[in-house]
Amino acid sequence: MIPTYPEQAVAVLFSGGDSPGMNAFLRAVVRLGLNREKVAVLGIRDGYRGLVRTARAVNGDAEALVRLKQDICNHPGRAGLISEQLHLIQMDHASVSGIMGKGGTILGSARCLEFHDKEVRKKVLQLLAGLNVRALIVVGGDGSLTGAKLLAEESDLQIIGIPATIDNDLQFTDMALGVDTAVHTLVWAVDHFIDTARSHRRVMVLETMGRESGDLARMAGLASGAEMIITPEPGPLNEEDMKRLAAKIEGAMTRGRGHAIVLVAEGVQFDPPQKRNRAYVLMDAFQQYFQRPGAPFPDLEVRPSVLGHLQRGGHTTPQDCILAARFADCAWKAIRETEGKSGITALRKNVVNVVPYGEPDMPERAVFSQEMDQLHDDLSSW
Ligand code: F6P
Repeated sequence: MIPTYPEQAVAVLFSGGDSPGMNAFLRAVVRLGLNREKVAVLGIRDGYRGLVRTARAVNGDAEALVRLKQDICNHPGRAGLISEQLHLIQMDHASVSGIMGKGGTILGSARCLEFHDKEVRKKVLQLLAGLNVRALIVVGGDGSLTGAKLLAEESDLQIIGIPATIDNDLQFTDMALGVDTAVHTLVWAVDHFIDTARSHRRVMVLETMGRESGDLARMAGLASGAEMIITPEPGPLNEEDMKRLAAKIEGAMTRGRGHAIVLVAEGVQFDPPQKRNRAYVLMDAFQQYFQRPGAPFPDLEVRPSVLGHLQRGGHTTPQDCILAARFADCAWKAIRETEGKSGITALRKNVVNVVPYGEPDMPERAVFSQEMDQLHDDLSSW
């Protein structure tokens, strides 16, 4: 039987930095589409970039669109995934089998500067209409969801955003997809650094990701027992601030602590500004303080590490897999029930709902961060 192109489809893309849970989300969205909703799911390779490239290739030409549809039909599922040329793949059960816990995204993700251009977005919307797409699901962080918001404002197409970023900097949801796994990875990393820190009585300064948010460092600090968390929220650190932090570590050492793990979020700024990584700036400031004349521990060594992309990869935690399934379920319900209304899935007080684009920040999030900082301080003081 010659496969025919579906009369309607829901498309899904992953954009920006990959985050754990993206594959679990893809599996859930495809399985729910096929098993429950009876709607075809088109996976878009390489995020907005895949759409832009395909829109350029088709360029509004009716025959090119027919050829593209044939191509999609001729390469369903895994056949489409292994064809480097095709940016749109009709997903089937087998194509999402065995991917639940795998880090990254099998469809690829990308940052796409061209998407800032309204004319480019117009071409993409034309392409999606030509492909019978009735809703587009965009999975990603802040920048990706801004792109989704623009598409929603500029068309009647239903655009459902899914918050996925290890930074947890989207203040309309308690958690984004991938945060739990990244925290888990950081706890694992801290456990490894502690071995050396203990053996050599050292101070380890570990720089986490998180953009302007300190949430990732904060949660990892609480969960790992790191002795100190330095987050961007209180503002830039000057020399006196760094001396104060060093004095706190030294004070704990005089009271019997043998080592210290310091988590510094990448969003932390300095006054005056510094070009080097935060871990290195802090290492120098701390080392200088520990070696000042008459200091009690002049031999106390400080070692910096920038943990980098290690934090984005690895096996997805059950918590993130469950959140992925819940976000997918919520997205499908919105597609089925809300007559084309766009919005973003959000987890609030353990309930998942769709909230409008541009929803204001939840004040509880800032309060929660402050409370967690205090809790960490109370737990780690020695
Ligand atoms: O937004 C996720 C994130 O990992 C940030 O924490 C980090 O600043 C950035 O992406 C790194 O981006 P890239 O992968 O482009 O280096």
